[in-house]
Amino acid sequence: MFTIIVANPKGGAGKSTLATNISGMLASLRQRVVIMDLDKQQSATNWLARRPDALPRIMAWNEDSDVGELREFAPQWMVIDTHARLRRADRTYLLSRAQVVLVPVNPSVFDIEATAKFLLKLHQDANVQSGRVAIGLVGSRTDSRTRIAQELASFFQRSGLPVIAYVPDSVLYPQCARDGTSIYDLPRTRTEQQLEAWQPLVAWLKGQVVRARTAKATSEKPADPPRHSELRTALRT
Ligand SMILES: Nc1ncnc2c1ncn2[C@@H]1O[C@H](COP(=O)(O)OP(=O)(O)O)[C@@H](O)[C@H]1O
Ligand SMILES: [Mg+2]
Repeated sequence: MFTIIVANPKGGAGKSTLATNISGMLASLRQRVVIMDLDKQQSATNWLARRPDALPRIMAWNEDSDVGELREFAPQWMVIDTHARLRRADRTYLLSRAQVVLVPVNPSVFDIEATAKFLLKLHQDANVQSGRVAIGLVGSRTDSRTRIAQELASFFQRSGLPVIAYVPDSVLYPQCARDGTSIYDLPRTRTEQQLEAWQPLVAWLKGQVVRARTAKATSEKPADPPRHSELRTALRT
Protein backbone atom coordinates (compact mmCIF):
# COMPACT_ATOMS: atom_id res chain seq x y z
CA MET A 1 0.00 0.00 0.00
CA PHE A 2 1.35 3.40 -0.99
CA THR A 3 0.89 5.83 1.88
CA ILE A 4 0.65 9.60 1.54
CA ILE A 5 0.77 11.86 4.60
CA VAL A 6 -0.64 15.36 4.21
CA ALA A 7 0.80 17.59 6.90
CA ASN A 8 1.41 21.17 7.94
CA PRO A 9 1.33 22.68 11.45
CA LYS A 10 -0.95 25.52 10.33
CA GLY A 11 -4.71 25.13 10.42
CA GLY A 12 -6.30 26.18 7.14
CA ALA A 13 -3.18 25.30 5.12
CA GLY A 14 -5.26 23.15 2.79
CA LYS A 15 -4.47 19.70 4.24
CA SER A 16 -8.01 18.30 4.12
CA THR A 17 -8.60 19.88 0.71
CA LEU A 18 -5.46 18.23 -0.63
CA ALA A 19 -6.17 14.89 1.08
CA THR A 20 -9.75 14.65 -0.19
CA ASN A 21 -8.92 15.76 -3.73
CA ILE A 22 -5.96 13.38 -4.00
CA SER A 23 -8.25 10.59 -2.82
CA GLY A 24 -10.85 11.62 -5.39
CA MET A 25 -8.21 11.77 -8.11
CA LEU A 26 -6.93 8.26 -7.31
CA ALA A 27 -10.44 6.85 -7.03
CA SER A 28 -11.30 8.36 -10.44
CA LEU A 29 -8.35 6.33 -11.81
CA ARG A 30 -10.02 3.18 -10.41
CA GLN A 31 -7.56 2.96 -7.57
CA ARG A 32 -8.70 1.62 -4.21
CA VAL A 33 -8.15 4.34 -1.64
CA VAL A 34 -8.61 4.56 2.12
CA ILE A 35 -8.48 7.77 4.12
CA MET A 36 -7.10 7.83 7.63
CA ASP A 37 -8.33 11.00 9.30
CA LEU A 38 -6.24 11.93 12.35
CA ASP A 39 -7.86 15.31 12.91
CA LYS A 40 -10.44 15.60 15.68
CA GLN A 41 -12.35 18.00 13.43
CA GLN A 42 -12.93 15.00 11.14
CA SER A 43 -13.15 17.08 7.96
CA ALA A 44 -12.09 14.21 5.69
CA THR A 45 -14.32 11.70 7.50
CA ASN A 46 -17.33 13.98 7.20
CA TRP A 47 -16.49 14.58 3.54
CA LEU A 48 -16.48 10.81 3.01
CA ALA A 49 -19.87 10.51 4.73
CA ARG A 50 -21.26 13.09 2.29
CA ARG A 51 -19.76 11.36 -0.74
CA PRO A 52 -22.49 10.32 -3.21
CA ASP A 53 -22.81 6.54 -3.68
CA ALA A 54 -22.63 6.93 -7.45
CA LEU A 55 -18.99 8.11 -7.27
CA PRO A 56 -15.95 5.81 -7.10
CA ARG A 57 -15.79 4.41 -3.60
CA ILE A 58 -13.27 5.59 -1.01
CA MET A 59 -13.19 3.93 2.41
CA ALA A 60 -12.42 5.34 5.85
CA TRP A 61 -9.71 3.60 7.87
CA ASN A 62 -10.41 4.22 11.53
CA GLU A 63 -11.25 2.30 14.70
CA ASP A 64 -14.91 1.98 13.63
CA SER A 65 -14.01 0.45 10.26
CA ASP A 66 -15.08 -3.10 9.57
CA VAL A 67 -11.77 -4.94 9.30
CA GLY A 68 -13.26 -7.67 7.10
CA GLU A 69 -14.67 -5.08 4.73
CA LEU A 70 -11.32 -3.25 4.58
CA ARG A 71 -9.49 -6.49 3.88
CA GLU A 72 -11.91 -7.32 1.10
CA PHE A 73 -11.51 -3.82 -0.34
CA ALA A 74 -7.72 -4.43 -0.43
CA PRO A 75 -6.63 -0.77 -0.55
CA GLN A 76 -3.75 0.22 -2.82
CA TRP A 77 -3.43 3.72 -1.36
CA MET A 78 -3.75 5.25 2.07
CA VAL A 79 -4.11 9.02 2.37
CA ILE A 80 -3.53 10.33 5.89
CA ASP A 81 -5.06 13.70 6.73
CA THR A 82 -3.36 15.06 9.82
CA HIS A 83 -4.08 17.77 12.37
CA ALA A 84 -1.99 20.83 13.12
CA ARG A 85 -0.39 19.53 16.33
CA LEU A 86 1.26 16.34 15.23
CA ARG A 87 3.44 15.09 18.10
CA ARG A 88 6.96 13.94 17.42
CA ALA A 89 6.23 10.31 18.30
CA ASP A 90 3.22 10.27 15.95
CA ARG A 91 5.23 11.93 13.22
CA THR A 92 8.00 9.36 13.57
CA TYR A 93 5.53 6.50 13.49
CA LEU A 94 3.68 7.84 10.44
CA LEU A 95 6.91 8.53 8.57
CA SER A 96 8.03 4.96 9.16
CA ARG A 97 4.88 3.78 7.36
CA ALA A 98 4.63 6.30 4.51
CA GLN A 99 6.31 6.79 1.14
CA VAL A 100 5.59 10.50 0.71
CA VAL A 101 4.65 13.57 2.74
CA LEU A 102 2.83 16.39 1.02
CA VAL A 103 3.10 19.79 2.67
CA PRO A 104 0.53 22.34 1.51
CA VAL A 105 1.47 25.94 2.31
CA ASN A 106 -0.61 29.10 2.06
CA PRO A 107 1.05 32.16 0.57
CA SER A 108 1.40 34.03 3.88
CA VAL A 109 4.42 34.97 5.96
CA PHE A 110 2.91 33.35 9.05
CA ASP A 111 2.42 30.09 7.19
CA ILE A 112 5.87 30.23 5.62
CA GLU A 113 7.51 30.76 9.05
CA ALA A 114 5.59 27.89 10.64
CA THR A 115 6.33 25.64 7.68
CA ALA A 116 10.07 26.41 7.81
CA LYS A 117 10.16 25.05 11.38
CA PHE A 118 8.08 22.06 10.40
CA LEU A 119 10.32 21.19 7.43
CA LEU A 120 13.36 21.27 9.74
CA LYS A 121 11.61 18.84 12.08
CA LEU A 122 10.68 16.58 9.18
CA HIS A 123 14.25 16.70 7.95
CA GLN A 124 15.50 15.29 11.26
CA ASP A 125 13.52 12.12 10.77
CA ALA A 126 15.61 9.09 9.87
CA ASN A 127 13.26 8.00 7.07
CA VAL A 128 13.44 11.44 5.46
CA GLN A 129 17.21 11.62 6.00
CA SER A 130 17.72 8.30 4.28
CA GLY A 131 15.59 9.43 1.33
CA ARG A 132 13.11 6.59 1.84
CA VAL A 133 10.32 9.11 2.37
CA ALA A 134 10.00 11.94 -0.15
CA ILE A 135 8.63 15.37 0.71
CA GLY A 136 6.65 17.36 -1.85
CA LEU A 137 5.59 20.99 -1.44
CA VAL A 138 2.26 22.33 -2.63
CA GLY A 139 1.33 26.02 -2.85
CA SER A 140 -2.25 26.41 -1.59
CA ARG A 141 -4.64 29.04 -2.94
CA THR A 142 -1.81 30.61 -4.88
CA ASP A 143 -2.19 33.31 -7.48
CA SER A 144 1.21 33.44 -9.18
CA ARG A 145 0.78 37.13 -10.06
CA THR A 146 0.92 38.22 -6.43
CA ARG A 147 4.08 39.23 -4.63
CA ILE A 148 3.46 36.92 -1.69
CA ALA A 149 3.13 34.00 -4.13
CA GLN A 150 6.59 34.89 -5.39
CA GLU A 151 7.85 34.91 -1.80
CA LEU A 152 6.34 31.47 -1.32
CA ALA A 153 8.08 30.29 -4.50
CA SER A 154 11.38 31.71 -3.22
CA PHE A 155 10.91 29.93 0.12
CA PHE A 156 10.16 26.69 -1.69
CA GLN A 157 13.25 27.09 -3.83
CA ARG A 158 15.47 27.68 -0.78
CA SER A 159 14.17 24.50 0.83
CA GLY A 160 15.62 22.51 -2.07
CA LEU A 161 12.49 20.33 -1.96
CA PRO A 162 10.38 19.59 -5.01
CA VAL A 163 7.42 21.90 -5.60
CA ILE A 164 4.81 19.64 -7.02
CA ALA A 165 1.87 21.97 -7.61
CA TYR A 166 0.40 25.38 -7.06
CA VAL A 167 -3.33 25.02 -6.45
CA PRO A 168 -5.19 28.19 -7.44
CA ASP A 169 -7.82 29.77 -5.25
CA SER A 170 -11.17 28.52 -6.51
CA VAL A 171 -14.70 28.27 -5.20
CA LEU A 172 -14.73 24.70 -6.54
CA TYR A 173 -12.81 23.48 -3.45
CA PRO A 174 -15.30 24.59 -0.78
CA GLN A 175 -18.08 23.33 -3.06
CA CYS A 176 -16.41 19.92 -3.36
CA ALA A 177 -15.85 19.88 0.43
CA ARG A 178 -19.55 20.46 0.96
CA ASP A 179 -20.66 17.82 -1.56
CA GLY A 180 -18.26 14.97 -0.76
CA THR A 181 -16.73 15.33 -4.21
CA SER A 182 -13.34 16.22 -5.67
CA ILE A 183 -12.47 18.24 -8.75
CA TYR A 184 -12.02 14.86 -10.48
CA ASP A 185 -15.71 14.08 -10.00
CA LEU A 186 -16.99 17.25 -11.68
CA PRO A 187 -17.62 17.91 -15.39
CA ARG A 188 -14.34 18.74 -17.13
CA THR A 189 -15.75 21.94 -18.57
CA ARG A 190 -15.79 23.35 -15.01
CA THR A 191 -12.45 22.04 -13.83
CA GLU A 192 -10.07 22.49 -16.75
CA GLN A 193 -7.89 25.12 -15.06
CA GLN A 194 -7.73 23.12 -11.82
CA LEU A 195 -6.90 19.83 -13.53
CA GLU A 196 -4.06 21.55 -15.34
CA ALA A 197 -2.72 22.90 -12.03
CA TRP A 198 -2.92 19.39 -10.52
CA GLN A 199 -1.17 17.69 -13.40
CA PRO A 200 2.41 18.07 -12.03
CA LEU A 201 1.27 16.62 -8.68
CA VAL A 202 -0.26 13.61 -10.39
CA ALA A 203 2.92 13.08 -12.44
CA TRP A 204 5.12 13.44 -9.34
CA LEU A 205 3.06 10.88 -7.42
CA LYS A 206 3.34 8.42 -10.31
CA GLY A 207 7.11 8.95 -10.26
CA GLN A 208 7.16 8.30 -6.50
CA VAL A 209 5.33 5.01 -6.94
CA VAL A 210 8.01 3.91 -9.39
CA ARG A 211 10.76 5.16 -7.05
CA ALA A 212 9.31 3.31 -4.07
CA ARG A 213 8.99 0.09 -6.08
CA THR A 214 12.51 0.33 -7.46
CA ALA A 215 14.00 1.16 -4.06
CA LYS A 216 12.25 -1.87 -2.60
CA ALA A 217 13.46 -4.12 -5.41
CA THR A 218 17.08 -3.00 -5.36
CA SER A 219 17.42 -1.55 -1.81
CA GLU A 220 19.44 1.08 -3.58
CA LYS A 221 20.79 3.89 -1.43
CA PRO A 222 19.30 7.22 -2.60
CA ALA A 223 21.35 10.39 -3.13
CA ASP A 224 22.53 12.14 0.04
CA PRO A 225 20.00 14.67 1.33
CA PRO A 226 21.26 18.17 2.29
CA ARG A 227 22.91 18.53 5.71
CA HIS A 228 20.62 19.84 8.46
CA SER A 229 22.71 22.96 9.11
CA GLU A 230 22.61 23.89 5.42
CA LEU A 231 18.86 23.54 5.32
CA ARG A 232 18.44 25.61 8.50
CA THR A 233 20.42 28.45 6.94
CA ALA A 234 18.54 28.20 3.65
CA LEU A 235 15.13 28.28 5.30
CA ARG A 236 15.80 31.22 7.59
CA THR A 237 12.88 33.65 7.14
N1 LIG B 1 -7.42 26.16 -3.44
C1 LIG B 1 -8.42 26.58 -2.65
N2 LIG B 1 -9.31 27.51 -3.11
C2 LIG B 1 -10.31 27.94 -2.32
N3 LIG B 1 -10.51 27.55 -1.06
C3 LIG B 1 -9.66 26.64 -0.55
C4 LIG B 1 -8.57 26.12 -1.30
N4 LIG B 1 -7.89 25.24 -0.51
C5 LIG B 1 -8.53 25.23 0.67
N5 LIG B 1 -9.59 26.07 0.66
C6 LIG B 1 -10.50 26.33 1.76
O1 LIG B 1 -9.72 26.80 2.85
C7 LIG B 1 -10.21 26.29 4.09
C8 LIG B 1 -9.10 25.56 4.82
O2 LIG B 1 -8.72 24.41 4.05
P1 LIG B 1 -8.53 22.98 4.73
O3 LIG B 1 -8.26 22.04 3.63
O4 LIG B 1 -9.69 22.69 5.63
O5 LIG B 1 -7.21 23.23 5.59
P2 LIG B 1 -6.58 22.35 6.79
O6 LIG B 1 -7.10 20.98 6.63
O7 LIG B 1 -5.12 22.47 6.60
O8 LIG B 1 -7.02 23.00 8.07
C9 LIG B 1 -11.41 25.42 3.75
O9 LIG B 1 -12.57 26.19 3.91
C10 LIG B 1 -11.20 25.08 2.27
O10 LIG B 1 -12.42 24.83 1.60
MG1 LIG C 1 -8.09 19.69 7.98
